[in-house]
Amino acid sequence: MEATANALAEQAATEIARVGADPDALEQLRVRYLGRKGEVTLLFKQLAQVGSAERPRLGKLLNAVKVDLEAALAAAIAEAKQGAGRVLAHTDITVPGRRPALGRLHPITQTALEIERIFSRLGFETVEGPEIELDHYNFEALNIPKDHPSRDMQDTFYISEDVVLRTHTSPIQVRVMEKRRPPIQIIAPGKAYRCDSDVTHTPMFHQVEGLMVGDDISFGDLKGILTIFVQQMFGPDTAIRFRPSFFPFTEPSAEVDIACVMCRGRGCRVCSHTGWLEILGSGMVDPEVFRMVGYDPEQVSGFAFGMGIERIAMLKFGIDDLRLFFDNDLRFLSQF
Ligand code: PHE
Repeated sequence: MEATANALAEQAATEIARVGADPDALEQLRVRYLGRKGEVTLLFKQLAQVGSAERPRLGKLLNAVKVDLEAALAAAIAEAKQGAGRVLAHTDITVPGRRPALGRLHPITQTALEIERIFSRLGFETVEGPEIELDHYNFEALNIPKDHPSRDMQDTFYISEDVVLRTHTSPIQVRVMEKRRPPIQIIAPGKAYRCDSDVTHTPMFHQVEGLMVGDDISFGDLKGILTIFVQQMFGPDTAIRFRPSFFPFTEPSAEVDIACVMCRGRGCRVCSHTGWLEILGSGMVDPEVFRMVGYDPEQVSGFAFGMGIERIAMLKFGIDDLRLFFDNDLRFLSQF
């Protein structure tokens, strides 16, 4: 028994040294040696079978082993706790946690959604159309025949003779009118493409098309709806004017200007000292366009408009360089 006790003492000492400052492992060792069924405790129980001559000496020995072991474990546990305290002392638990960076919507997307919200409150439904478009929808059905000089207005990316990247969102008007009967009240946001690239033009840009067709839609309706739109987008005091213009698919046509958002109409560099900024093209749907989708221009009337989303976003957020939208510089994007 003496040998067993000494061996146990030695083994326990090595194991305590090995687990070091791990409080859970130290507790496991305490249970294994000193617990109710622990190895040292078992030796004490065997003492009863030892002859009375040997018992006092072995009892003393076992006691010494037990006391030593308790002391060693207590010391190791104390050190483990102090160690944990040391780690805490270097941790300032009052420092706010680090927030994970959140993504956000691109300013162009935010602007498109805002435009959609305003028109949806006026009863317009959002629809979409293909970016790869037939020449027929992009030009022909919008009263822009082949070899017509009005095609010079847009530098087109041709995929084949009959297929183009749409140069505006207006083909969506035609697709919707072909499929439905009036009354129609839609807006159609999307990408458009023109073979054009300089400080104020990118080969891909965004437009929102609008179309309202019904029994008795007048130029007054066009003016009313677009005025409400401008006031909700740029503020109730924003002055607006309709300037005669030309588009092959509308007659009469008007371009819409708003009072310069930078100088409020006084004249500055942004508005070329005119006090006005052009924001969209519009007009009454040309009878020829109605005829091509099988509507009777004597029965129905309507208006259409188209605006560049980049332009609206620049004016709304005060951005002076179109290229910022396409650089994807996080320092720019994270401001929205
Ligand atoms: N599609 C025209 C453009 O891209 C804008 C427009 C749309 C004008 C609808 C009138 C009516 O310039």
